[in-house]
Amino acid sequence: MKRTTVLALAATGGLLLWRRARSTDDPGILGPQAVRDLYDRLGPVYDAAAAWTHRIGTGDFYGRAVRALDLQPGETAVDLGCGTGPNLPHLVEAVGPTGRVVAVDLSPGMLAQARQRVERHGWANVELVEADVRDFSFPETLHGVVGLFALEMVPEHDAVIARAVRALVPGRRIAVGGLRRPERWPEWAVRLGELVNRPFGVSRAYEDVQPWRAVEAHADTVSYEEDVLGAVYLAVGQAPDPECPRVP
Ligand SMILES: C[S@@+](CC[C@H](N)C(=O)[O-])C[C@H]1O[C@@H](n2cnc3c(N)ncnc32)[C@H](O)[C@@H]1O
Repeated sequence: MKRTTVLALAATGGLLLWRRARSTDDPGILGPQAVRDLYDRLGPVYDAAAAWTHRIGTGDFYGRAVRALDLQPGETAVDLGCGTGPNLPHLVEAVGPTGRVVAVDLSPGMLAQARQRVERHGWANVELVEADVRDFSFPETLHGVVGLFALEMVPEHDAVIARAVRALVPGRRIAVGGLRRPERWPEWAVRLGELVNRPFGVSRAYEDVQPWRAVEAHADTVSYEEDVLGAVYLAVGQAPDPECPRVP
């Protein structure tokens, strides 16, 4: 096919997607039942559907987030909104066979995929918990928390992150990352990105959701970075020592 034909087809496709993005109703912030229903449906196809995000630059995002926790063999880590478990290989490797990984999600459909992953690898130290992160009780001794592409969907993420930080052994880390509104993108590209991610529940209603602010508010921030020209963020914070109150 000629280069000009390919360009014309790509431009037409982009225009159609853009027009559809403008005309489709915004589903708004999803409640827990809607999130569960959506992700139960997505479970069997989620990994294949999300694979393209790795190709556009998020690459080793999961590995990077887990490495930032600096977990040691024998320690305990929690994965909030674990989905099908892309964090699990990194978490299991970090805490080793004597450590413990607790992975939480409210969608049985996503957890079923995570369970297959756990069984395939024979990981005996991974607990999959079906729960809403808003009600989840953190383990008593906790050395690391990760939550990727999930806490944006939880309107009460500030309270969840505050509890997670309080549950951590002082000095240990939480890594929160996901999609954010890319301020450097032109408006049409933002809308297109939103449309492409709509099958995952993304919509304009989530534009102002900024879980990294909760990491900054409740933890001592260790690092904040952006990927994909500002469309993806990763914030890592450290649990403060209650003996040494933080200076606001
Ligand atoms: C986009 S997926 C991301 C899954 C995984 N962390 C990843 O990066 O592939 C979002 C996940 O968050 C889960 N989730 C959303 N709200 C939740 C809540 N309130 N409690 C527990 N899980 C939640 C969904 O069920 C879904 O599995």
